Amino acid sequence: MFGRVVRHAGRVAHDPTTYLGAAAHYRYGRPPYSPELEMNLAREAGLDGHGRLLDVGCGPGILTVRLAALFDEVVALDPDGDMLAEGQRAAHDSGLTNIRWVQATAEDLPAAAPGPYWLVTFGQSFHWTDEPRVAEAVYDMLEPGGCLALIGHTTEGRPKPPGPGVPAIPHTEIQTLVAKHLGSTTRAGQGTRAPRTHRFQDVLARTRFGVPRALFLPGIPDLVRETESVLAGYFSTAFSAPHLYPDGGKRFASEVRELLANHSPTGRFWDWPGDTELVLARREPNIEQRDQSTVA
Ligand SMILES: C[S@@+](CC[C@H](N)C(=O)[O-])C[C@H]1O[C@@H](n2cnc3c(N)ncnc32)[C@H](O)[C@@H]1O
Repeated sequence: MFGRVVRHAGRVAHDPTTYLGAAAHYRYGRPPYSPELEMNLAREAGLDGHGRLLDVGCGPGILTVRLAALFDEVVALDPDGDMLAEGQRAAHDSGLTNIRWVQATAEDLPAAAPGPYWLVTFGQSFHWTDEPRVAEAVYDMLEPGGCLALIGHTTEGRPKPPGPGVPAIPHTEIQTLVAKHLGSTTRAGQGTRAPRTHRFQDVLARTRFGVPRALFLPGIPDLVRETESVLAGYFSTAFSAPHLYPDGGKRFASEVRELLANHSPTGRFWDWPGDTELVLARREPNIEQRDQSTVA
């Protein structure tokens, strides 16, 4: 039913079952990025409502839908057809008509979605790709002076706000339940996934982009989620996607519900995914752009 996992250039290529069953849970289960994302991206990347955006690993169009109004044209690319269908629905509901949805992997670039683009975004998706090779391909697809933006949540080194006065999501206990059902090695698709040991910054520094800039945008300090949304968050991940559980996740779901009921009688939880980290790298501007920026 699904394409088999293929190997090229010594690397394991995309496993089409990675997010199987996760798309329907994604928008309901995932915390939003910083409310200041658009403003900061517009300022840092010089967005003026024109040009083209490519959102790679767009999933259900989280960034795509938020950023589409800042561009003339948008291409949203993801290998998972169910994710793309969710994204199309969300774009339709928001009345957006300037987005083209492409089913492909980042490794299929540039052929799958030829440039040029003013901005290429990866929201929690760059780590799924052959990072150095994909960054080099993106460099060639950008207009001179255009930007690559890697976006994700981070708690590392970020101050923790006091919270809204409801219990925090008991992630450690929920992860113990995941391990009880799926084992203690992180699962992904038909295989497992080793913990990440390197930073995006270091990968980009070794490409033509050079050392990128990292910015931290304030996360939502008082985000409250309901029990079902917390559960959806787990089903939206690759490591706890519904297909991994022999019964589709029914027993896991009832155990999580019971655990959450014990933690919060109101069924409300504080979610602190951290601030939003924006790693920005720019393609070398052309000579006129460089001269203008010197004058400015
Ligand atoms: C965590 S989701 C991110 C969705 C969305 N960009 C966001 O910011 O929430 C990761 C997405 O990366 C996609 N993905 C996985 N491997 C990929 C690859 N090789 N190329 C492009 N996208 C990939 C998955 O299908 C999934 O939709």
